[in-house]
Amino acid sequence: MCGIVGYIGPKGAVPILLEGLRKLEYRGYDSAGIAVIEEQKLLLRKSEGKLGVLEERLKEEKFLGDIGLGHTRWATHGKPSNENAHPHHDCKGKLAIVHNGIIENFQAIKKMLEDEGHSFFSETDTEVIAHLIEKFYQGNLVKAVQKATSKLEGSYAIAVISQDNPDQIVAFRQDSPLILGIGEQELYLASDIPALLPYTRKVIILDDGELAELNRKNYQIFDLQGNILEKEIEEIDWDLEMAEKKGFPHYMLKEIHEQPDVLRQLLTTPLKDDGIDLPELGSILDFQKKIDRIFIVACGTAYHSGLIGKALLEKTTKIPVEVDMASEFRYRSPLVGENSLVILVSQSGETADTLAALRYAREKKAKTLGIVNVQGSTIFREADYTLLIKAGLEIAVASTKAYMNMLAAFNLVALKMGEGEFNGEKLAELLHFLREIPAQAEKTLHKIERPSRQAAEYIKNWDNAFFVGRGLDYSLALEGALKLKEISYIHAEAYAAGELKHGTLALIEEGIPVVALVTQEDLLEKMVSNIQEIRARGGYVLGLTQDKFVSRLEGEVDFLLSIPNTSDFLAPLLGTIPLQMISYYAADLRDCPIDQPRNLAKSVTVE
Ligand code: M6R
Repeated sequence: MCGIVGYIGPKGAVPILLEGLRKLEYRGYDSAGIAVIEEQKLLLRKSEGKLGVLEERLKEEKFLGDIGLGHTRWATHGKPSNENAHPHHDCKGKLAIVHNGIIENFQAIKKMLEDEGHSFFSETDTEVIAHLIEKFYQGNLVKAVQKATSKLEGSYAIAVISQDNPDQIVAFRQDSPLILGIGEQELYLASDIPALLPYTRKVIILDDGELAELNRKNYQIFDLQGNILEKEIEEIDWDLEMAEKKGFPHYMLKEIHEQPDVLRQLLTTPLKDDGIDLPELGSILDFQKKIDRIFIVACGTAYHSGLIGKALLEKTTKIPVEVDMASEFRYRSPLVGENSLVILVSQSGETADTLAALRYAREKKAKTLGIVNVQGSTIFREADYTLLIKAGLEIAVASTKAYMNMLAAFNLVALKMGEGEFNGEKLAELLHFLREIPAQAEKTLHKIERPSRQAAEYIKNWDNAFFVGRGLDYSLALEGALKLKEISYIHAEAYAAGELKHGTLALIEEGIPVVALVTQEDLLEKMVSNIQEIRARGGYVLGLTQDKFVSRLEGEVDFLLSIPNTSDFLAPLLGTIPLQMISYYAADLRDCPIDQPRNLAKSVTVE
């Protein structure tokens, strides 16, 4: 999605803006631009395509301005083009604006402004904001932004500079993240923390309805009524190293390899000798007896983790669990009430649909638990309780280590909430396996690399592939198929293996790759029968199982991958690693842009 950066201080703004935008590239974008004020004159440059195109252009022009804004755009209104790229400007070219999000009432505003004589230069919703500010400007930029934003509907974060106020950046947040970075004698602005990391760890996270004025000496933050707010400065503990590739050709591969470490990071503190210590659940445990239903709401990969979370929670708590895609949740009028627990899962903590689901649940008086990776994100701050999954900065658009830790987090929550339901022996056994899981993930990485590459060699030549499994393996199959689609552009579908014969078997043709997940002991024989049905129709079956079931599967599949033995409960944590690797290598062999797949963005802040 779009990215915003801003700088005001004693240094030249352009290199700082470009470096900030570089750090936001992973979010996905199709054009980029900057605006600086130099000798009281607004200068604006923007280009369709990657940041390099803009950088090349800027090399020829030595901009010295020490205040500026930068933006990477992910098209929503109007195609990617130089004209539609941000920053946008007013009629006179005196003020520039960058914007993330969507202005829902832009058409009505545009019509009104056109009737008043304003001329528009782009197809974007954003441009109306520049003209609205121009309309309300009477020498005070803060006041003009306040007036303009009061007319806007939608979700947005904006930043504005004006050559008539060359010592000021004004920014406003409504439902789209915006963060102020505090340096020595200089101030930064960004829509995402990585853009600030090269310069400062001290940040102020704006809340909805807050306006920030950054000037050369200080900053001020105002609420909607114009009152000055005292906001806490927070210290970010991510380091810049996380934003580097550390010798790996892609962030995705680096992040796959970080999984044993991030599992340790999450599991070490809560796993005690005699149980699980999870103070993050707060009073949910006291309230648990009253909970009549749990809802898990999320998007994409996080949704897939929720499907596994459902199976675990229902087993341990005996409370019925429903899993919803966040984009569907509030529109189906779910039966959420004060005895519901709604779990929102999100790597970024900013996904618009998941955030809307959280707000819906809170309106219905449900208790809410966020399972989130980004500290300080909106879901982190708005949920009643939050469990941080501690996967560290995830840069590749395809989620890997965050998914892993979502699964581990669900194990922690399920075991903690299920403590009363389990006999001591069963719990002790599961704790033992959970304690072992980081080391097992390490072993998996080593043993699976080569076979995954071989599997990818086969799959890469096909336009279609299937992933099948039963029980937890079906949920994992959904994630395997998404990963392959997302980065290799091979069409992949996941099916509950028993469901194939009700229609999809018609698509099985000679040689078509079918990844069959067989990690669950109680479903082993059923899966073998389903595999036989596929092979009888010519499907090429790539089986994935635990070491202990290898002998049963030999001869039943065309190619076999195996993960170290673990509890069936935890098998998805290890099983996801070969699926990630197969997708990675298939995408690599097909020369796909692995970390930034076409049309996708890392954090989806529009509905
Ligand atoms: O930040 P979130 O976890 O809320 O993001 C949800 C999805 O957009 C995300 O998981 C997406 O499906 C990934 N690109 C999948 O790899």
